[in-house]
Amino acid sequence: MKKSALLFCIILGLFSCNQNKDMGNNRITIQNFQNYDQHSFAKPQEALITHLNWDAIIDFDRKTIQAVAQYDILKYPKSKKIILDTKNLDIQKVWRNQNDSIEYELKEINELLGQALHIPLSKDTKTISIQYKTSPDAEALQWLNAQQTTGNSPFLFTQSQAILCRSWIPIQDSPGIRFTYEAKVKVPEGNLALMSAENPKEKDTTGYYSFKMQQPIPAYLMALAVGDLEYHKTGSETGIYAEPATMEKAIADLEDLQSFLETAEELYGGYRWEQFDVLVLPPSFPFGGMENPRLTFATPTILSGDKSLVSLIAHELAHSWSGNLVTNATWDDFWLNEGFTVYFEYRIMEALYGKDYSEMLASISLKELKQESKELIDNGNAKDSHLKLDLEGRNPDVGMTAIAYDKGYFFLRKIEELTGRERFDNFLKQYFNEYTFESINTEQFLLYMEQNLFGKNDIELPKDLFSNWVYGAGIPDNLPEPNSERFRKVENSIAKWLNTGNIDTLKTQDWSTHEFLHFFHQMPDSIEYTEVKALDEKFDFTISGNAEILTEWFLLAIKKDYRTAYGAMENFLVNTGRKKFLMPIYSELVKTETGKRLALNIYKKARQNYHYVSYNSLDKLLNYSTD
Ligand code: BES
Ligand code: ZN
Repeated sequence: MKKSALLFCIILGLFSCNQNKDMGNNRITIQNFQNYDQHSFAKPQEALITHLNWDAIIDFDRKTIQAVAQYDILKYPKSKKIILDTKNLDIQKVWRNQNDSIEYELKEINELLGQALHIPLSKDTKTISIQYKTSPDAEALQWLNAQQTTGNSPFLFTQSQAILCRSWIPIQDSPGIRFTYEAKVKVPEGNLALMSAENPKEKDTTGYYSFKMQQPIPAYLMALAVGDLEYHKTGSETGIYAEPATMEKAIADLEDLQSFLETAEELYGGYRWEQFDVLVLPPSFPFGGMENPRLTFATPTILSGDKSLVSLIAHELAHSWSGNLVTNATWDDFWLNEGFTVYFEYRIMEALYGKDYSEMLASISLKELKQESKELIDNGNAKDSHLKLDLEGRNPDVGMTAIAYDKGYFFLRKIEELTGRERFDNFLKQYFNEYTFESINTEQFLLYMEQNLFGKNDIELPKDLFSNWVYGAGIPDNLPEPNSERFRKVENSIAKWLNTGNIDTLKTQDWSTHEFLHFFHQMPDSIEYTEVKALDEKFDFTISGNAEILTEWFLLAIKKDYRTAYGAMENFLVNTGRKKFLMPIYSELVKTETGKRLALNIYKKARQNYHYVSYNSLDKLLNYSTD
């Protein structure tokens, strides 16, 4: 080991220096768990799960899942127990091996983490089984009635990341612990069930479905969706699942999935999950996308009709390498999942649509980063602008900021700039291969990069690179600036419009969604009500079908009190559950007293359509209480 690298390890108090010595080929050994995960009760160094057999009945009437989870376990010879994470589960019975029923302990409730389930082990324990029922308000689950979907049939979907899997499966809910799984799921007739696994393509009239996931995954990638769904194949390894009423729209935007997959493979090596399908969910899905392996979950708000929001699919696809194959060891290392994925996403978009396209995305990233970084520092949370986070005692979802995504992206772009694209690409490919189906923390990655990218190519590692980017606040001075020709054109267009006062100087025929977003971001505060009205008359923003554009438009409408847009805004807020849109709109509304009243009125109607991750944040923002 190079001296500087060794020093680096010591300085960071890194425990993984001697890791390579005794690891051998089989890295799934108990000794391998040096990463303490403060968001899980599990003690993998004592005993861990390696395979799950899940048998479940989905009950839409009671909004519960009745299930048995059976685990194969691996234990340290002296271990006396295994610890699983649970949250709000009704544990009915626990047994070892075939039928050795035993006393278990369900520890005290922690608001954030749930309850530890301690199961005693004996010398010959090979499997443990847990019979349990989920609660109707299990945090991962969203049960939709027929009116809340685009079809006319109830729907269930899960969202496990970051620490919600434990609310529907008792499990070791830590990104450093992987297992394979099989499942048997019974759903009401007429429904299709899908998981983050090998999936059926057609409905089964009996309502029984079987699943198999042969690649080991962490718990946050466990996923289930049940509804009136159909399948459309888009290529030999790709396809779309959607409700029948949405399918046509979904195909229009997502028909190129196969070329996305092939482009990604060309960049960073073979796709390891065999199949890449996208499930288009009902609009209440709280995120843009979720990289559930083999079956990305996506919001219907990316269906813009002109394919201009498909970078989100490139993002979730990229997670098949960064995140799903090589996983952040703890949520403090979240940037390893998201920063890499944004970098990879933009590379896919560059390969498919050209550099002038991907530079628009990078420019938007920079804007988000500047805003987030300023807010964090101004609010006294400068440490949350470090790439390496410290989320102790907090919900890991608070790490879902532009820091992990965009500062992470620019850090990797910086490395690319320092080492050259070819070397960096080779290194990334090697990194994904080296850590396939493993978890890694920030320090392990930095060390690996120092040795295998800088050291190997004899490139000097700039002295303050890591302390500025990874362990330092805000935006380092040496940030690589994106250069977007297309955005410059938008800026010129705005200048002309504002100088001449002639709205017809705005030439928007060739604009994609990104150019429109830039247009809104660049609009000066001084713009007046009459100009807002004129914009609407010319571009019909109020009735736009594009959720990204609508959100920017509503923000402007609220600021300028352009009430013509309020009906459409209410309709949008009631029908869309994506947190990224809801938070800014409600936040803008609550800035004035009348706005606050309007927000609360809308929220009362809308809340039932939101998933826990959205209403949990909105309840706080709006000071809303259900009791
Ligand atoms: N894995 C994330 C979603 C996530 C992060 C869920 C943290 C829960 C906790 C997903 O890959 C993601 O980043 N989605 C983004 C889209 C993307 C294009 C930035 C989203 O949903 O907005
Ligand atoms: Zn992501």
